[in-house]
Amino acid sequence: MTDAVELCASADLVDGGRAVSFDVLYAGQSSRAFAIRYQGQVHAYLNRCSHIPMEMDYQEGQFFDDSGRWLLCSTHGAAYEPDSGACAGGPCRGGLVKIALSESGGLVRWHTGPHLKPLKF
Ligand code: FES
Repeated sequence: MTDAVELCASADLVDGGRAVSFDVLYAGQSSRAFAIRYQGQVHAYLNRCSHIPMEMDYQEGQFFDDSGRWLLCSTHGAAYEPDSGACAGGPCRGGLVKIALSESGGLVRWHTGPHLKPLKF
């Protein structure tokens, strides 16, 4: 069973712009996560690079490259597809862990799963 957790207002996510960060419990460990908008759709991932499991934004919320086309890890430059999290170049070893989102009524929500829970109840 999944629950929807309120994340932010739709207007907080601008296409190709800054991410909204949030915290989750993933497989029993607290982890940072982030949501972005790309080509009109919202997407969210664990903030964990597949190269080395560390956070990717040197500047908080800054995941897109200057062109707004790729999500970049600031550490060694791994590039990911914004809409799937798939590795698109650089030293990534696989894709990002995707988190289900939904958007309705001007709100964005993320969805819990078997390995994904809110940090605080
Ligand atoms: S830690 Fe992300 S590219 Fe190396």
